[in-house]
Amino acid sequence: MRLTADANKFGLFAFMTAILMTAAMSSAAEDVVAIRQADMKAMAAAAKTISGMFKDPTTYKANEFKWAADTIRDRSGGVLSVHFVSEADSRQSKAGPNILKERERFDSIANDLRDYAVALDAAAQNNPGQMSASMRMKPGEAMGGGPLGTHVRNEQELLAMPAEHAFHLMLQTCTTCHAKFRME
Ligand code: HEC
Repeated sequence: MRLTADANKFGLFAFMTAILMTAAMSSAAEDVVAIRQADMKAMAAAAKTISGMFKDPTTYKANEFKWAADTIRDRSGGVLSVHFVSEADSRQSKAGPNILKERERFDSIANDLRDYAVALDAAAQNNPGQMSASMRMKPGEAMGGGPLGTHVRNEQELLAMPAEHAFHLMLQTCTTCHAKFRME
């Protein structure tokens, strides 16, 4: 009898442990979803800040521009990628199931985002006073883009283009990833 009671106790213990572990794991998954969604919102706010300065260059402030670029830089690339490695997503996530299958493509878009953010940071450092004409796109300047056009080919090309151009390609990078990897 005694043995059975102990065995039952152990069974209950194992059962409770399993429940607690499942709860801990699913709350970790929810945490990562909350973090990556908060990061995305922070990047959206930063992009809005930069966009406002290109729309009205008199509002340009190098330190705010740089801070916004760094907000995106610090939440893209590998930082963004590692928030999307687990299949144990909670239900309130809009992350596409294809992220795991198309890992390289996802990571490469995340890295492009970071490259553009780094270029914008450099532009702010090179233009501490006013927003220079060299930061702006010339009227009618070819935008490039298209489905594969947002990929950063090399650093020289990136640093040679006006910051405004890099910014537009950055926004296309957001859109490209969402179209492919975010569910409606
Ligand atoms: C490499 C892919 C990728 C890139 C690049 C990317 N996103 Fe996202 N974004 C996602 C995915 C996937 C989700 C859905 C996340 C979830 O629900 O867990 C998302 C969600 C969002 C959300 C909704 C967050 C919420 O609260 O639910 C916003 C806003 C957003 N992204 C803005 C941006 C902006 C702005 C950029 C560019 C500066 C950007 N994203 C770049 C993949 C990306």
